[in-house]
Parts: sequence; structure tokens; C-alpha cells
Amino acid sequence: MNHPAIGQSIHDLDTPALILDLDVSDRNIQQMAQFFRDRPAQLRPHFKNHKCSELAIRQMKAGSAVGMTCANMVEAEALGRAGIDDILIANQILGREKIRRLVDLACKLKISVAIDELSQAELISEAASAAGATVGLLVEVDAGMGRCGVSPGEPALALAKQIIDLPGTEFRGLQAYEGHCVFIDDLAERTEKTRRSMMQAVETRHLLEENGLSVACLSGCSSSTAKISGTMEGMTEVQAGTYATMDWRYHQLIPEFDIALALLATVISHQSDRAVLDAGVKALGAEFGPPKINGAPEADIPFFGAEEHCIVKQAPDWKVGQTVQVYSSHACTTCNLHPQIFVHQNERVVDVWKTDGRG
Ligand SMILES: Cc1ncc(COP(=O)(O)O)c(C=O)c1O
Repeated sequence: MNHPAIGQSIHDLDTPALILDLDVSDRNIQQMAQFFRDRPAQLRPHFKNHKCSELAIRQMKAGSAVGMTCANMVEAEALGRAGIDDILIANQILGREKIRRLVDLACKLKISVAIDELSQAELISEAASAAGATVGLLVEVDAGMGRCGVSPGEPALALAKQIIDLPGTEFRGLQAYEGHCVFIDDLAERTEKTRRSMMQAVETRHLLEENGLSVACLSGCSSSTAKISGTMEGMTEVQAGTYATMDWRYHQLIPEFDIALALLATVISHQSDRAVLDAGVKALGAEFGPPKINGAPEADIPFFGAEEHCIVKQAPDWKVGQTVQVYSSHACTTCNLHPQIFVHQNERVVDVWKTDGRG
């Protein structure tokens, strides 16, 4: 992108500004691609992390990736515009307008969607067959998270049998996301619980195959469980997302991936017992805790909820007007708040990328 900020120091950016250390992000992307290079399961990185097609293209180019995962139609359309031609919407798509957009995309590229009820598949089938398109269907299995998905075993088999012959669709397999295991801090416990819960999806796969159904795909996993469930026999796709940008919460779980994404903020006030940054909830997602300050572990943000302000206790000796880098606890919602990411190397802006899948 041609942008006046290119070539500037990040410290001259108008704040709050979302910034990405390109070398750190590239290292993360390469590391995950390298891990899956000679393994049976391949990456299908989750776009919801950054919603930035420039980053998605880098993830695809790094290798070991069969396509991209996303969470909604806006994301799927952005990926389609960027030339990604194999997309999984790991979510249920309902409503006439969304199904129309889904079928539009299916006319141009390979797209699959999760379902957990016959009626969802029937609506997609009706629209796709009228348009002469094919939409791939994955039966979503609830591996213990308690979000979407039918129970593993017989209920999943029954649904797969119901949808197998629907015109305009192709049964491609199963999806299961172990979201309840992702934030378990203790690695041994995370490993044990992840394996136990995803084993239900693997066994469901076997049950379908014993009943004569072909299961081309079993898709699941996150950044913190990729090396656990992604190496289980029977898994074919790994939907890890946040490893590309990282945030401080994920960094506690997978420290081998560094934090590439930060918010550049300005110190707008510094009183005797506190400093204040121009970085409130309009600029930073904080679902997994208040932000943390890069390079100032002693700084404390006991409460984070104001729109425009972030109050920092035990702040370093900051001068009013200087910039600081702040790490979010949740990269995905943070990226959703910004129209662009300022990409830098050694604190010099080298590119500006649109978060074209946000919204
Ligand atoms: C369906 C699904 N798959 C995979 C992921 C994992 O993504 P991440 O690695 O960013 O946690 C998520 C995260 O919410 C998800 O909802």
C-alpha cells in the first residue's frame, strides 16, 4: 500500500495505532509451517486472528497450508478477494442473505461450512443447487466446549447420513474445536484434556468410516493445542490462528511464539501515582485481562474499561508525550478495532496493511 507513514519511525505515528513487528510475525508463521511440514495434518490458519489478507497470504506462502479458516461471511469474502481459493467457515451460516453470499462465493472457489442441524444444510442445498454451485459441509462435533456441534458418536453419524445426498452440497467430513482446553495454563493438563476431548472427534470419524461414509477432513485445534491435537492420528487440518500475531495471554501458553502485535499509545498524563495512555477499550480487546506494557513488567493496570484512557500504576519514568507499546490480551478483537496495521521492521514502518476482513 502507498501510505505517507511508510519510512517513518513508528514513534511518529498518530496514536493509538496498531503495529506489527514483521520479523517476529514471519518467524511465528515459519515456525508453525515448519512444525507441520512432514506431518499428516496440514494447517488451515484461522483468519479471525488478524482479519488481514496480507498476513493470510504470508501464511499460505509459508507452506504446510491447505487453505484458510474463517468465522463469518465478511472474512470469507475478504479471503476470496485476496485469491485464497479454499476456505472453511468454521461456523454456522444462517439467514437468506448470508446464504446467498455463501453460494456466490461457492461459484468462484472451494468453500466449506460447518453445520450441526439438518435444516441449515437444507437451506444451503436449496440455494446452492439453484445456482449450480457446490458448498462443502462439515458436521460439527461438540468436543466438550459446549458451543455449537452435535454430540460425538451416533448423533454425528445420524446427521451425516441425513445430509450426504443433499444436492448442491458435498459432505467433506467433520469439524471439532476444543475451545475449553485452549487456555489451560499447565501444559500437562492441557495436553491430557485436549487429547481426551479430541479423541471423541477421532472416534466419531472412525464410526462414520465404519458405516461407509468417506471423511476427507477432520478440522480443529488452536494455537495452544496445535502441537497436541494436530498430531493425533485422524486429524487432517489445524485451525490455529493467533500464533501469527500473538498476544500476551497466548504468549503465557506458547512462549516459543513471540508477540508481534502491539498498540502504540501516547502518555497523555503523568501524575505522582499514575500515568495515563490514550488506549482504552476502543483500541484494545481485553477479554482475557487488562493489557500489559512492553518492557515494563512492574507497570500495573488494575482496571481496564474506559473508552479512551488506560491508567497505569507503578509506571516507569515516562515523559508526557512519549509513545509506549502495549500488548493486548486478545489479538483477535484488537485487530477488529483498527482499519489498518502499521507493519514495521526495527521500529521503521515498512508497509500498511488493511484489516479487510474486519466488521
Ligand atoms: C472454530 C475455531 N477454530 C480455531 C480457533 C483457534 O484460533 P486461535 O489459535 O486464534 O485461538 C478458534 C478460536 O476462537 C475457533 O473458534
